[in-house]
Amino acid sequence: MTKSTIPHPPRRVPLIGDILGMDREFPNQNTLVRFRELGPIYRRSILGTDLTFVGSAELAAQVFDDTKWEKHIGRPLEQLRPLVADGLFTAYNWESSWSRAHEVLVPGFTKDAMVSYHGTMVEVVDELCKDLESRSGDFVPVVDEMGKLTLEVIGRCGFGYSFDSFGESEHPFVTAMSRALTYAQDTAIPLPFIGKWLRRNEEQQNEIDRRLLAETVDQVIANRQESGERRLDLLDRMLHPEEGAGLDAENIRNQVLTFLVAGHETSVNALSFALHFIAQNPEIAARMRAEASAVIGAGPVQYEDVPRLRYTRQVINEALRLWPTAPGFFRAAKQDTEVGGHKFSAGEWVFVLLLAVQRDPAWGADAEQFNPDRFAPEANRGRPAELFKPFGTGIRSCIGRQFALHEMTLALATLLLRFDITPENGYELTVEETLTLRPKGLQLTFTRV
Ligand code: HEM
Repeated sequence: MTKSTIPHPPRRVPLIGDILGMDREFPNQNTLVRFRELGPIYRRSILGTDLTFVGSAELAAQVFDDTKWEKHIGRPLEQLRPLVADGLFTAYNWESSWSRAHEVLVPGFTKDAMVSYHGTMVEVVDELCKDLESRSGDFVPVVDEMGKLTLEVIGRCGFGYSFDSFGESEHPFVTAMSRALTYAQDTAIPLPFIGKWLRRNEEQQNEIDRRLLAETVDQVIANRQESGERRLDLLDRMLHPEEGAGLDAENIRNQVLTFLVAGHETSVNALSFALHFIAQNPEIAARMRAEASAVIGAGPVQYEDVPRLRYTRQVINEALRLWPTAPGFFRAAKQDTEVGGHKFSAGEWVFVLLLAVQRDPAWGADAEQFNPDRFAPEANRGRPAELFKPFGTGIRSCIGRQFALHEMTLALATLLLRFDITPENGYELTVEETLTLRPKGLQLTFTRV
């Protein structure tokens, strides 16, 4: 087989290509459906650009081979470059600033570092609980509420900065950040012909937003430098690495914004999906509550308690499997190679849709169902790694994985101990797509137990 035989959607239009049937609102969920029609690899060619999608565990394993494939900065990530430039998430593989920042920041995510963040995480989860208590029994928009938690956690643990998330009104930084991310997503799929003209107002707003984000971060960095204060946080590590000179001011700004972008929405949405499934499944909630009560008791939660919350972790894993909040990632061939018998030249790239890979029939006949028991240690033994990659793969996988898992496990266990969580009558899960996936319009009640 040659690359020209990779299946494509029906009704290819001369010159323009596979534009028909594209879904701007739900591109990833649309791709999931396409795999069922076209098989585990297919290609969309648009105006001469090829987008190849990979959606089975077997083919994913081939492109996860680091000797032949590497991270690729695809168009949605390119769109973030004006905002975060060579920050860890969007740096090109060949940029030396990536290796230096990676070296400086990895120690900020070790076990010792997590121990040092634990107290702040507990403190913020406590503030979240107080906020929810004040609205006990009311329907609460879950994504917004979890957003306060994760932003506050990364702000305080990362840079000693509070967005005052549990205050009366939204911080202008948060508004600007969410608008800048929406802009990056909206412009990822180019509008034909008059697109630029149609978007001129959004473009101006985006300029303003980017300036506000950069100025706020620069101020935080300047304040720290002027005060000479030393803290156990990511900003301190970037200013005063264990070895060698600190990162330069512009790169630090890119990293701070990167952590806010990469570390915020993904965790918010994962927590929200998990809460949706918990609210829909009282027996799962009961098991989690029993576990939290046995491990944490009257509290406060100790660092060592968190890894012992095994069932809670299973619930988080299962939410991330069924709805990976980073729905996929790009991989580029480092050399001429093949995927599923199709030839790829060095430099060609694919998008691996985790949303499809993590529902591969290899998970069993119930792959589409929510079942945390599939992550029980005995069920999990010998599972091929490619079946579950919500944090990416290889050297460019998620640096914040342990941070996110610690935060989410701690938060869910505490919420279960303190609240009864109930869904809206008749709520059906609809999944909204920005750069990430999130449950649309999810509202739950949190009633003090
Ligand atoms: C549930 C939560 C999270 C999920 C699902 C997630 C997912 C991912 C994925 C899939 C990648 C690889 C992207 C690619 O290959 O293009 C990634 C990279 C990254 N993530 Fe996360 N992430 C989460 C939380 C966090 C947190 C909390 C932080 C920071 C505190 C963070 C910081 C980063 C950074 C900096 C990178 C780029 C690493 C590099 O290329 O060197 N993430 N994440």
